[in-house]
Amino acid sequence: MFEATPPAGSAGVHAPKRTLVRDLLAAGEPCDAVLAQGWVRTRRDAKGFSFVEVNDGSSLKGIQVIVKSDLPDYAEQIHRASTGASVEVRGALVPSQGAGQRWEIVAGTFNVIGTADATFPLQKKGHSLEFLREIAHLRARSNLFGAVFRVRSRLAFAIHEFFQRRGFFYVHTPIITASDCEGAGEMFGVSTLDPANPPRDDTGAVDYSRDFFGKKTSLTVSGQLEGETLACALSNIYTFGPTFRAENSNTSRHAAEFWMVEPEAAFLDLDGDMQLAEDFVKHLVRDAREHCADELEFFAKFVDKDLLPRLDFVLERPFQRCSYTDAIGILERAAGTGAKAFESTVAWGDNLQSEHERFLSEEHFKCPVTVFNYPRSLKPFYMKVNAPDALGRETVRAMDLLVPGIGEIIGGSQREERLDVLLDNMARQGLCEADYRWYVDLRRYGTVPHSGFGLGFERMLMFVTGVSNIRDVIPYPRTPKNAEF
Ligand code: 4AD
Ligand code: MG
Repeated sequence: MFEATPPAGSAGVHAPKRTLVRDLLAAGEPCDAVLAQGWVRTRRDAKGFSFVEVNDGSSLKGIQVIVKSDLPDYAEQIHRASTGASVEVRGALVPSQGAGQRWEIVAGTFNVIGTADATFPLQKKGHSLEFLREIAHLRARSNLFGAVFRVRSRLAFAIHEFFQRRGFFYVHTPIITASDCEGAGEMFGVSTLDPANPPRDDTGAVDYSRDFFGKKTSLTVSGQLEGETLACALSNIYTFGPTFRAENSNTSRHAAEFWMVEPEAAFLDLDGDMQLAEDFVKHLVRDAREHCADELEFFAKFVDKDLLPRLDFVLERPFQRCSYTDAIGILERAAGTGAKAFESTVAWGDNLQSEHERFLSEEHFKCPVTVFNYPRSLKPFYMKVNAPDALGRETVRAMDLLVPGIGEIIGGSQREERLDVLLDNMARQGLCEADYRWYVDLRRYGTVPHSGFGLGFERMLMFVTGVSNIRDVIPYPRTPKNAEF
């Protein structure tokens, strides 16, 4: 771990390579020559030496460095080593005399690389999250955001691990697209036309045939439709990439740019899809518990006291499943008996609002719950239509996975694989077959039952960290009226 490589031209003098603080703190034995580089968190001067805590972002904890006053340039270096300054320390890794850490470095040389004066905004602890959002370019240097972004990295890796182990291929679906997968019309346009003076057709409408792509294009809201074409060739695929929604929802759970994981599997039905979603969420929670233990403990201490028991509960218990029709029954009874006062009433055929979703998972089932078979009229054209129920009501094989504290974290469905029903769905929703020719072809050539879902990566991170605002689990959030940095 503490590999020493002689620098060119310094025969016999061994200069150590940089070791990350995380690895220094996990060392098995002392070492005479280590090199640490990072940023000063705190400095305390005593008689004859200074304590400097150096953090390099590799772990929550920093390493304590003892800088003795008999170093030749002690006075010059140490007064520049204020909070936020970058430093380079060469010295010996020794067992720490103080409490709270196993190892510390006794500096042989201590150099400030870049100073940070008193205007550095992360001087003291306890800044509000709102303030930290304004300095998003520096907030990753705080304990909280360092921890969030390390968990984000780890879970991105765990996503690949989960699917690759199960034989799913990672595919890249386009970011610029001409189709509106969710049919909600919430797309950001992509155009190189002059907005002040666009070409117009005979009717006065903007003539997109003269635009860059020769048609109207947008940023994708989902890679699903293209993902389906690859699943109907490679059998099991997943996407993991940025998606964009121009929905004007200024909530703590909506971002205009977010990352979505979308598996799609041929020969998989809705039950299999729900099972895959459940296994996937458990895998990510388990992985974070195992590989981000320090970070999760930090969140449990400073962000959400109930975090660890809640995550463990999720691992231990099977998730509940409940049809939409049964969910409406539960909500109506809760409202009818006065057990729960909802802001908006809900009846069969209505969309579940966030308060309803949260009631189901937090108060009724008290665990993650998958609601399935939603009314046909509420859902996009691609979902498989069920036979009507005894009352003649039509549903589709949709599913939403709801978790306590957040509500919907996954949305998915079995896809309509019958050509005639798909075309009927498209006609009902006013979609032009010619625009979706390639999608419809999947039902013309070797159609198969298939299913998939989308997991909002930021919502998953909120669930795993307890951080309650989506703006604080992505480095640079994009929300209505906000595209800073
Ligand atoms: O339920 P949604 O809209 O489903 C789809 O897009 C399907 N095409 C997915 C599929 O079947 N392949 O979105 C899926 C998930 C939601 O459950 C939520 O977690 C997240 O994406 N999501 C958002 N996350 C943050 N900000 C937003 N504005 C989001 N909209 C959806
Ligand atoms: Mg949804």
